[in-house]
Amino acid sequence: MKKYDICVIGLGYIGIPTASIFASKGKKVLGVDVLRSRVEGVNAGKSHVGESDIDALMAEAVKNGFLRASSVPESSDFYIVAVPTPFKRLDGGRKIPDLSYVEAATRSVAACIENSQMLILESTSPVGTTSKMRDWLKDELSKLGRLESVDFDSINFAHCPERILPGKMLAELVANDRICGGFTPEAAERAKALYSCFCKGEIFTTDDKTAEMAKLTENASRDVAIAFANELSIVCDKFGIDVWELIKLANRHPRVNILSPGPGVGGHCIAVDPWFIISDAEAQTPLMKAARAVNDGKPDFVVEKVKRAAKNFKNPSIACLGVTFKANVNDVRESPAMEIVSKICDLNLGRVLVADPHVDSLPQHIAGKTEKTSPELAVAGSDIVVLLVDHREFESLSGLLKDKILIDTKGFFPKR
Ligand SMILES: NC(=O)c1ccc[n+]([C@@H]2O[C@H](COP(=O)([O-])OP(=O)(O)OC[C@H]3O[C@@H](n4cnc5c(N)ncnc54)[C@H](O)[C@@H]3O)[C@@H](O)[C@H]2O)c1
Repeated sequence: MKKYDICVIGLGYIGIPTASIFASKGKKVLGVDVLRSRVEGVNAGKSHVGESDIDALMAEAVKNGFLRASSVPESSDFYIVAVPTPFKRLDGGRKIPDLSYVEAATRSVAACIENSQMLILESTSPVGTTSKMRDWLKDELSKLGRLESVDFDSINFAHCPERILPGKMLAELVANDRICGGFTPEAAERAKALYSCFCKGEIFTTDDKTAEMAKLTENASRDVAIAFANELSIVCDKFGIDVWELIKLANRHPRVNILSPGPGVGGHCIAVDPWFIISDAEAQTPLMKAARAVNDGKPDFVVEKVKRAAKNFKNPSIACLGVTFKANVNDVRESPAMEIVSKICDLNLGRVLVADPHVDSLPQHIAGKTEKTSPELAVAGSDIVVLLVDHREFESLSGLLKDKILIDTKGFFPKR
């Protein structure tokens, strides 16, 4: 017998906000994670997301009894899958999607799923994944001997991708438009009805494959646009032109909108998702591949600049400001800033000081080779300052940069 309205599988950066907002609307929600610490954290009302409004919403939902967590799914009207979809690195630099987490999450509901319940995939996934979930579930039901007792065709499937921006997750969860892609039109409508309990944006229905491709398209499009900006920054460096001023001027054209360059492209989405298109459409994606190469190559360009600057000193101290993949968050996944710090350390150019007020500790392979300190001490003790992430806390440092060699990958500090 159904015990919950919604079971959210995967209590990460997407699962926790999703579970919490549904619970805040009076849905009975079970959060499920394979990590014991996540389950215990949620049941204690403590979220690791690091966004105060989400953390408070979750604590409230747990306190009011609408949200609890467990390591196994239980019967629910809806199962929302929000597990990681990383890529696997193959020889030769190719990257292919790793769907093992989605498969495991799908199979995990086979023991409890009942007629007319619904699986919704929120994880960003390659085209065809929702359809694969049907196959995995059917296979697992058959293995458990439940295929005779469950009316498989009464189970609905949909892909409802998430577009929220880290740092503004709760506001975007409510305000963003959504796409609900159903394996059948009925499934799309059913998903739409579910999300409309909190979503104030417009909800569009389509089929599952179009929804999968739409999410990938959004991120691939941004990757290509950022690659143009990053390539421009490299060209401008060669010509001795300030790329930030250039872009500001070019963007005064009424139909031009160039994005901002940076140290590379990171995070769990933009640096990953284009590969989900490329891996299934190699011959059709020369532009997306080129964009990935430009963005993946930008950290090396920054490291080269640091190397050149270091030649001005006998034993330089290098302050690296920021290690997260973007400003004002604590997420370091696929972070180009972290890659740059790691490469600078490996070059043994001198003393490396790292400051990031959003990150408590550095990964082991870097921690032993650097000194983590406050932004002010890092800058004060350095010859070269490398701004890698535009965290708001770094704004106050601009007065301390006199006499330093500054490599500002984000155009963050006022021009000197
Ligand atoms: N983080 C973002 O800003 C963002 C934005 C849009 C889309 N997405 C997509 O959402 C998905 C989830 O991303 P995330 O950032 O929340 O990932 P995450 O790594 O923060 O969280 C995923 C959670 O799933 C758990 N998990 C893994 N396998 C499981 C299983 N079989 N059963 C139960 N739990 C399991 C992990 O332990 C982890 O806690 C990804 O596909 C990502 O691309 C993320």
